[in-house]
Amino acid sequence: MIAIGCDHAGYDMKTGIIKFLEDKGIEVIDCGCDGSPCDYPVIAKKVCENITCGKADKGILICGTGIGMSIAANKIKGIRASVCSEHFSVKYTRLHNDANVLCMGARVIGEGIAQELTDIFVNTEYEGGRHQKRLDLIKEIEENK
Ligand code: RB5
Repeated sequence: MIAIGCDHAGYDMKTGIIKFLEDKGIEVIDCGCDGSPCDYPVIAKKVCENITCGKADKGILICGTGIGMSIAANKIKGIRASVCSEHFSVKYTRLHNDANVLCMGARVIGEGIAQELTDIFVNTEYEGGRHQKRLDLIKEIEENK
């Protein structure tokens, strides 16, 4: 299950990605927006809460740059959100960072690239091993240890 959300700048891209995922038989929770002007932190929170409560395995957030969404999402405990515009970063943020949220900028990349990045994000497994210690260290920062 993938939770997905966007602000007004990302609405058209979100619509395309929902169709792309559903055509592949992947279930989607659409956390808005409906295309009218909204504030990206509100949507980021909704998507991330679907992950932290266990309803969704991963999330996708789209705004103009992907940056605002990622800043907001990374404030939430348990979220590892990465803004990506190309294939290499998505692949390695799954393999090494176990990123659970992919953020993309609808004013930065086209829909074709966004769909390919989504495909990699959904289908690449976390490698674990030597990377786990580093994720544990991130968790410690999160818990203010
Ligand atoms: C909205 O105009 C824009 O600021 C937003 O989509 C995003 O790019 C913020 O990071």
